[in-house]
Amino acid sequence: MTVRILGIETSCDETAAAVVDNGRLVRSSVVSSQVDLHARYGGVVPEIASRAHVELVNDVIGEALFEAGTTLAEIDAVAAVHGPGLAGALLVGVSAAKAIALATRVPYIGVNHHEAHIYAALLDDSSLEPPLLTLIVSGGHTLLVAMDDHTRYRVLGQTVDDAAGEAFDKVARFLGLGYPGGPAIDRLAPSGNADAIAFPRPMLDDGDDFSFAGLKTAVVQYVRKHPEIPVADVAASFQAAVVDVLVTKLVRVAEDTGIETVVIGGGVAANSALRARLLDEGARRGVRVVVPSLALCTDNAAMVAAVAHWRMAADGPTSLAGGAYPSLRIGA
Ligand code: KG4
Ligand code: ZN
Repeated sequence: MTVRILGIETSCDETAAAVVDNGRLVRSSVVSSQVDLHARYGGVVPEIASRAHVELVNDVIGEALFEAGTTLAEIDAVAAVHGPGLAGALLVGVSAAKAIALATRVPYIGVNHHEAHIYAALLDDSSLEPPLLTLIVSGGHTLLVAMDDHTRYRVLGQTVDDAAGEAFDKVARFLGLGYPGGPAIDRLAPSGNADAIAFPRPMLDDGDDFSFAGLKTAVVQYVRKHPEIPVADVAASFQAAVVDVLVTKLVRVAEDTGIETVVIGGGVAANSALRARLLDEGARRGVRVVVPSLALCTDNAAMVAAVAHWRMAADGPTSLAGGAYPSLRIGA
C-alpha cells in the first residue's frame, strides 16, 4: 500500500512543497526561493520572509500536487516543518498543513528541520539505512549526529559559536561578495589559491564540537593587514580551512564510533570543495560517504515529507494543538 505524504517547508527563506510516496519516492518537489527579496538587506529579514511565505504557500502547494499528478483527495498525511526556524515563517507552513489536515481529515505531522536534512540522504540513495553518522551544516547550525535508527538520534558535537554557513555568509559579506555567501565563495574559490593563507583550523584536534567565529575574525584581521591580497585567495583559503575542520572531524568520529556510513546535509553540504574532499577522504579510509544531490542539500520539502513517513510510523500524528517551535532541538 502506498502512503502518500504532502510536505511543506517554510522555516527560513524558501517556500517549498513536495509529494513523496512511502518516504522514498519523490513525486514532486517545488522550491520557491526568496533570495532576491532578502539580498538587498544582506541577510534574511524575518518579517519579509513570513509575508512572502503567506503569498506563495498556496501556489507552491498547488504546483507540488499538480507536478506529482495527484490531488489532496489522494494525500494520506500532511507534514510541515514546525522547528527550528523563524517563528513567523514556521507558522505559515504549520498553519497551512493543519488547515489541509482538518479540511481533508488526514493526519498532520510536525517535522524537525534538522531531521529532515538527514533524510535528504535517504531520498538520494534508496538503499541507505541507519545506523548513520550525519553532519548537518546549515545557515544556523553545525551538528554532528549519530542516527541509530529511524527517528532516533544522538547529538555528538555542535558549534560552540557560529555555524559553518554563518561563517560563509559573514566572510562573504566582509569580502563584498553578497548574499547568500556560501555559493558566492564556492564560485570564487576555484580561481584562488587555497594555500595562499594558512588560516586557523579551530578545535581541529579538540573534541567533537566546532567553532567558526575565530576563523571569521582571522579572515577580517588578515585582510585588514594585507589589503592587496586577491579576494579569490582569501575565499579559497577560508573555504579550505572550514572544509578541513569539517571533514577531519567527521572522518575521525566515524572511525571512533565504528559507524561505517557517513552522510551530510544542509546548505553548506552543497559546497563543492566539501563534497570533493569528503568523497576523497571516505574512499581513502574505507568509509562509505553519501553526498545528496544539490537540490536535496538546500532547503526543500521532499526531505520533510520523507521524515514524516517515519515519524508517523514511530509516534503517530502530531496534535493539531501543536504550534511552531523556533528553538526545537534534534534528539531531545
Ligand atoms: O540548509 P540551508 O539551505 O538553510 C538553513 O536551514 O539554514 O542552509 C543555508 C546556508 C547558508 O549559510 C548558505 O550560505 C550556505 O547554506 N550554502 C553554502 C553553499 N550553498 C549554500 N555554503 C557553502 N557552499 C555552498 N555551495
Ligand atoms: Zn536547512
